Amino acid sequence: MGYTAAMKELSFILNGHEVKERNVAPTTTLLQYLRQHLQLTGTKEGCAEGDCGACTVAVLDPHGEDGPTYRAINACLVLLPMMQGQTIVTVEGLKTGDQLHPVQQKLIEAFGSQCGYCTPGVVMSLFEACYRKDLDAEWKVDDQLCGNLCRCTGYRPIRESARSLAGRCPNDRFLEDLRQAESSERSVHYESEGELYLAPESFDALFDHLDTHPDVRLVAGGTDLSLEITKRFVRPKKLLSLEAIEALSEHRVEGDTWVVGAGVTLSRLERPAPKYAPALARMLRFFAARQIKNRATIGGNLCTASPIGDLAPVLLMLDAEFVLRSRAGERIVPSAEFFLSYRKTALRKKEIMSAVRIPILTAHAEHRLSAYKVSKRQELDISAVSAGLRVELEHGKVKRARFAFGGLAATPARASRLEAAVTGQPWTEASLEKALPALEQDYKPIDDHRGSAWYRMTIAKRLVLGFLLETESEPSPEHAYRPTGTVDPEASR
Ligand SMILES: Cc1cc2nc3c(=O)[nH]c(=O)nc-3n(C[C@H](O)[C@H](O)[C@H](O)COP(=O)(O)OP(=O)(O)OC[C@H]3O[C@@H](n4cnc5c(N)ncnc54)[C@H](O)[C@@H]3O)c2cc1C
Ligand code: FES
Ligand code: FES
Repeated sequence: MGYTAAMKELSFILNGHEVKERNVAPTTTLLQYLRQHLQLTGTKEGCAEGDCGACTVAVLDPHGEDGPTYRAINACLVLLPMMQGQTIVTVEGLKTGDQLHPVQQKLIEAFGSQCGYCTPGVVMSLFEACYRKDLDAEWKVDDQLCGNLCRCTGYRPIRESARSLAGRCPNDRFLEDLRQAESSERSVHYESEGELYLAPESFDALFDHLDTHPDVRLVAGGTDLSLEITKRFVRPKKLLSLEAIEALSEHRVEGDTWVVGAGVTLSRLERPAPKYAPALARMLRFFAARQIKNRATIGGNLCTASPIGDLAPVLLMLDAEFVLRSRAGERIVPSAEFFLSYRKTALRKKEIMSAVRIPILTAHAEHRLSAYKVSKRQELDISAVSAGLRVELEHGKVKRARFAFGGLAATPARASRLEAAVTGQPWTEASLEKALPALEQDYKPIDDHRGSAWYRMTIAKRLVLGFLLETESEPSPEHAYRPTGTVDPEASR
């Protein structure tokens, strides 16, 4: 597809008004733009790295699983060109005349604000909750807010507000915008201040750009890459976004395989995952926070190849395959062959990950699988150790084992020695205890601030034992997100 002159400027809807911009650098974050260029200072900066939620704004997603919906995102982690064609709502856009939006009103009534620094971000997360149709469990409502830190109020009034607002969907102009939502022009060819940002709509155009600009950086949701800009002050001269290529954002079932486009965001995976990959659903529950999951993609998580990336151990355990695409066509790489060394993958130059092929595995007494994440905090934290664990049994003995870990080596990796040690052995606690020392030959973990080598190894062994015990009663414990009824609201005051 060719580019028109109009694509050289960015255009989006902000609080009901069309904004056109051609003069800011593409590496300007939405937060910087709102505060410094438009003087919309309601949206706050706390951390500039996705941890505090003070910068939360909402964008309209026309392609939600239940139809068009709002998505809360961290304005500190999105670059302005990523907003091309989007409808954005900030805290300044919520009032209608003198009338506060119900989420603002409720927060006042519940005494959910003190110093007020976190409040605009909390309000915008509540705004998403208000129009979501799938907040049908208490833990989901809590999850909605786990990306918003408040150091004054205590979370009880905020949580009360969330519970009373979730799914309320007031019949107002925001609902009307959802009803009328349409897909918009997302392609971008934008250059300013010596920086170039490209977002083509087709694979052909993408590979043309890769030929013309061999030094370009690929970007998807940008939740990893933007940190280089906001924390290390790197200004990439050329960025090539995958976001406008529709095929990358689709998922479908092909026979017994769930094929997920590399550009599918993690919040879009949450609905189908319990059906097709329950272990993945379980991991998603503890992955970052709502705002991050609304932007982060599955492909970005894998291609960044972090040794503590949470999805890789699950996909390694499931024997997933990665589809890598270049101008020459597609090749399929088994997940076990994708991660080569620290942050190095099997991706070649001018090649992208286009999809993830996930076998749909049915758990039963003879086939057990699950996923685990150990971090200092339950919500919005990076793993010390994460694991995807699976055994296939025959007459009580292990026929096949897949144990994959993150946080134990330079890459996420399978524990092939432990897998071999349990294969052919009874799947019992006593037998597993004998096999577990093999894990020490599989990995030599490092000491760092997230955990010592001893801690990581000990945790990993305990996870395998825990897996044996937990899956005795439920072969695929996807529902064990958090035992209901154990959280005392007063305790979070
Ligand atoms: C506050 C915070 C919390 C986080 N919590 C977690 C967590 O709990 N668990 C976890 O695992 N991660 C976590 N992350 C890391 C990050 O959010 C994820 O890794 C996310 O999935 C990255 O996806 P993205 O689309 O945003 O990647 P991007 O930032 O867009 O890209 C990451 C890298 O992958 C490359 N890339 C992206 N897509 C492709 C593709 N299709 N083909 C080839 N290369 C590609 C890019 O060039 C870039 O180098 C967190 C990040 C933040 C900021
Ligand atoms: S400023 Fe803290 S999440 Fe954006
Ligand atoms: S009210 Fe002060 S940080 Fe939340």
